[in-house]
Amino acid sequence: MSDAGLPRRTQVAIIGAGPSGLLLGQLLARAGVDAVIIERQSPDYVLGRIRAGVLEQGTVELLEHAGVATRLHAEGLVHDGVELAFDGRRHRIDFADLIGRHVTVYGQTEVTRDLMNARAALGAPTVYEASEVSLHDLDTDSPRVGWRDAGGRHELACDWVAGCDGYHGVSRASIPASVLRTYERVYPFGWLGVLCDTPPVSPELIYANHPRGFALCSMRSTTRSRYYVQCGLDQKVEDWSDERFFDELRARLDERAAAALVTGPSIEKSIAPLRSFVAEPMRHGRLLLAGDAAHIVPPTGAKGLNLAASDVRYLSRALVAHYRGEGSAGLDGYSARCLARVWKAVRFSWWFTTLMHRFPDTGDFGQKIQEAELGYLVGSRAAATALAENYVGLPFDD
Ligand code: APR
Ligand code: PHB
Repeated sequence: MSDAGLPRRTQVAIIGAGPSGLLLGQLLARAGVDAVIIERQSPDYVLGRIRAGVLEQGTVELLEHAGVATRLHAEGLVHDGVELAFDGRRHRIDFADLIGRHVTVYGQTEVTRDLMNARAALGAPTVYEASEVSLHDLDTDSPRVGWRDAGGRHELACDWVAGCDGYHGVSRASIPASVLRTYERVYPFGWLGVLCDTPPVSPELIYANHPRGFALCSMRSTTRSRYYVQCGLDQKVEDWSDERFFDELRARLDERAAAALVTGPSIEKSIAPLRSFVAEPMRHGRLLLAGDAAHIVPPTGAKGLNLAASDVRYLSRALVAHYRGEGSAGLDGYSARCLARVWKAVRFSWWFTTLMHRFPDTGDFGQKIQEAELGYLVGSRAAATALAENYVGLPFDD
């Protein structure tokens, strides 16, 4: 043991205590694989980030397997469909009827909190507020992680490094540029989001296409709503009073929803840019990337957290099989396997973003084309099924 009470060596060093790192740590701990998590921020900072809140059925099953689904089942809202609003009307996509599956509305913050509590209950080691995190010897069998905290400089030796440190982390940046290939699309708008303690405007989510721009009515519970409007990248949160936000939201909804909207003081308001990004490969030597460290999707369709969970599902199985002496096929095939599923979700969220938003060159013609595609989508069982399958989550390849 080192001065900080941490082991000097572990099997898996996990960089980042977001949903990816915490879920991986939990699945490994339950399978008897040792891991240490090293996180740059404090727990409160990690819990303060407001993110999407729609879980695919496969994500819920993985959280069950990880033993962290009790509160999710008690408090999460099962949704059997979503609504698409365009041309002044709303149309329901009925997941239950089309594919017999559903999604669960439960905030990412709550998933993170449940995972943090489970880790604390296990007494598994986590370092918070670690600065200057650095990765070494990734192309050897004994990589090392270094960092600094209030107690000074530390080093941890390990067999594997799991890079779960998000888009701005050190892990992806540690892969040589000659090896890494990145793919990116930046969208020319952002989402202005508001959280407030008011009942949701409708029992299910409403995705609205409108000539003024996209809008989304979501929720965290039956008493807490999450609303978004598409906005310009030059917009500032300070310029958006609650009144201006709700006026704009109302203007983009159908009449019935606009009339039913209950407004209240915002408890959070922020602007997020939209981007699609993929880094390949997701493994370099002993470093394995998972979640936002390897890919970003625009929030339309809420795939970010679900993709992170799907990486962690493949990664945890591969590591557990390795330590059980069942071979390294899972680790060798990790990158290709993840990326096949990642690109399908990248495609879906790009398509849904493109269909629902106003682009600088959309114009009257583009608006009509979007409405025609939406009309086809809600009128064709085949097209609606394709949306439902992707929204609820594509199957895993095992
Ligand atoms: N060293 C240690 N930790 C770091 C470093 C670093 N150099 N850089 C970043 N981190 C931490 C961040 O503070 C954060 O807590 O890594 C964590 C990464 O968490 P997320 O960004 O939430 O990424 P991930 O766990 O992959 O979760 C993906 O979160 O961003 C959303 O839409 C995304 O819902 C998806 C989910
Ligand atoms: C959210 O509730 O924050 C949310 C829901 C669905 C999305 C994006 C965000 O597609």
